[in-house]
Amino acid sequence: MVGSYSSHSIPATLIPGDGIGPEIVASVVQILEAVDAPFVWDIQQAGMAAVQESLDPLPDPTLQSIRRNGLALKGPLTTPVGGGFRSINVRLREEFKLYANVRPAQTLIPGGRYEDVDIVLIRENLEGLYVGFEHYIPIDNDPHGAAISSGINTRAGSRRIARYAFEYAVKHGRKKITIVHKANILKALTGIFLETALEVGKDYAGRVQVDERIVDACAMQLVLDPTQFDVILTTNLFGDILSDEISGLVGGLGLAPGANIGEHAAIFEAVHGSAPDIAGRGIANPIALLSAAAMMLDHVDHQAKGQCLRQAIHEVLITDGVRTRDLKGHATTQDITTALLKRVAALRA
Ligand code: NAI
Repeated sequence: MVGSYSSHSIPATLIPGDGIGPEIVASVVQILEAVDAPFVWDIQQAGMAAVQESLDPLPDPTLQSIRRNGLALKGPLTTPVGGGFRSINVRLREEFKLYANVRPAQTLIPGGRYEDVDIVLIRENLEGLYVGFEHYIPIDNDPHGAAISSGINTRAGSRRIARYAFEYAVKHGRKKITIVHKANILKALTGIFLETALEVGKDYAGRVQVDERIVDACAMQLVLDPTQFDVILTTNLFGDILSDEISGLVGGLGLAPGANIGEHAAIFEAVHGSAPDIAGRGIANPIALLSAAAMMLDHVDHQAKGQCLRQAIHEVLITDGVRTRDLKGHATTQDITTALLKRVAALRA
């Protein structure tokens, strides 16, 4: 963990990011001020915004700031598809060994497809097919005649994420962990993950129930009855796909927060991307990033403030019915920010 956070001023790196990033970051920073959050921001650039400034998508001052503070709130970063630079999100995870990706998905708006969804997905964040060992083999006249990708899961990496997930379950009063894998086909790559997680689970017998599912069956069962899941523990790629699926079960990407946790640093962000289709139009939903900020407050032991944000979000969405377009409402980013500020002020009065 990142040390003790007793102080009332905690330095943290703030990365506005690309696309809708600066709009939702500005909203969240205002709301964090209203809740009297302890963060003292060190604003740094990454992604396309950094390329425009310094030609480097992940400049050294940004890395140094995160290394110094061990804590960051990050707007989404655009990654060019195919060519161009490698995903900055993946590089940040690797640089700071952010091995655990934690993505909660909870029903916030009743009357949607499912009620009472309350799932936390814990994804291994450094290994698997994300290691980027890829190459092409020329065949005949085609230099890209075949593409090869290798995945790596280690026993130590699997043990570390499994330990994190079981400790998380105990700390947060969660009852069951479902280990998700594809060990029937990828017998070595995901077999080692399943075997190691089951082994770690034995230490928690009587405290946390252990279950396991093949990823395709899990994807279907999530759609049929998501309430059967509590904590899902899975590998990097499956976690990426399933976490977007669980966001969809509870109203879409505009509500889903995520945390990337390592031994010496933690980076909090929305699950969604930079949404270039709506960037600059003032209609982005800031709630996913605000929920990530609430997780950041929990992380630095300011749980009451995190809870205040969650309550304000609930009241704005449900009591006030103020919702952005992604939630079938008409509110702008400014409208929802104003509503959240009002609710936070009332809760703190
Ligand atoms: P996206 O998540 O940016 O957008 C998908 C759809 O959801 C779009 O229609 C968008 O308008 C909508 N949406 C997303 N967030 C929203 C919000 N807060 N409020 C209202 N609507 C919202 O995914 P897409 O288009 O696949 O990716 C765009 C870029 O973002 C890519 O370059 C991708 O690599 C990057 N990305 C970055 C992530 C990060 O920094 N953590 C995560 C995912 C994608």
